[in-house]
Amino acid sequence: MRTMRAVRLHEDGLRIEQLPVPEPDAGEALVRVHAAALTRDELTWPVDRLPATPSYELSGVVAGVAGDVRGVAEADEVFALTPFDRDGVAAEYAVVPAAVLARRPRTLSHAECAALTLAGLSAWQGLFDHGALREDERVRVLGERGGVGHLAVQLAGGRLAAPGEPCDLVFDTIGGDPLAAAVGSARRVVSVAEEADGIAYFVVEPNRSQLLELARLAEADQLRPAIDSVFPLVEAGAAFGRVAERGKSGKVILQITAD
Ligand SMILES: NC(=O)c1ccc[n+]([C@@H]2O[C@H](COP(=O)([O-])OP(=O)(O)OC[C@H]3O[C@@H](n4cnc5c(N)ncnc54)[C@H](OP(=O)(O)O)[C@@H]3O)[C@@H](O)[C@H]2O)c1
Repeated sequence: MRTMRAVRLHEDGLRIEQLPVPEPDAGEALVRVHAAALTRDELTWPVDRLPATPSYELSGVVAGVAGDVRGVAEADEVFALTPFDRDGVAAEYAVVPAAVLARRPRTLSHAECAALTLAGLSAWQGLFDHGALREDERVRVLGERGGVGHLAVQLAGGRLAAPGEPCDLVFDTIGGDPLAAAVGSARRVVSVAEEADGIAYFVVEPNRSQLLELARLAEADQLRPAIDSVFPLVEAGAAFGRVAERGKSGKVILQITAD
């Protein structure tokens, strides 16, 4: 039996374990994970299904597909936000629904591609799907150096309101007092960080066509994810320690296979 190293979250914390390489079921692909990105607070998400593999932010190479899968093939270079209700991708291999995989932008490293998945989709869906931001409107991004925030700033382009200027949309990635202070300051307030009265809170969803648009922007040099820090798989504990800190600049990455 082939085995692999994987990060597992247990009741008492994170462990690195040796597990069987999973087999893809109908509609699924097996991906050799090169890089997995991490998000603040994500270890609180799977607590009802422990032990669980964290990280839902993948860049890698397809290593096999189930017999019914079309449009995705072995050796494809892919990136994806993977579903939150099943094991994540902080492992040497991950089985994921083939429908969420998109061709990765070749101008970016695997680490940068992983950094672009959950954070880029959160920024896109916050600004355009939930925020309905138009060309002629102004937006303020709260948390603009963070994983989601720095990509929202780039996607908003010239539509950013200067501090103190009126704006049409606030896109919050912080929650707490900064979000409370922003309620009422714009016609629309959208948050990815916290549910509160008077705001539109949302949970990011996998979306292959939006990922392809993010890849197109990256290849056109109009979007570039920032990497705060990179850790090997065996230092997953330190990586999650860094994710929880203030003062980051972009995303924290687990580099699992060399680029
Ligand atoms: N609902 C969803 O689907 C979804 C999706 C993505 C993310 N999230 C959540 O959204 C949040 C942001 O994610 P992220 O990956 O962007 O996090 P991050 O990389 O840690 O960025 C957070 C940003 O918030 C700022 N910040 C944090 N606490 C602050 C405070 N008390 N006052 C002022 N600024 C503060 C940080 O600024 P500094 O530089 O000053 O530290 C940073 O710019 C997390 O809670 C994450 O779990 C939810």
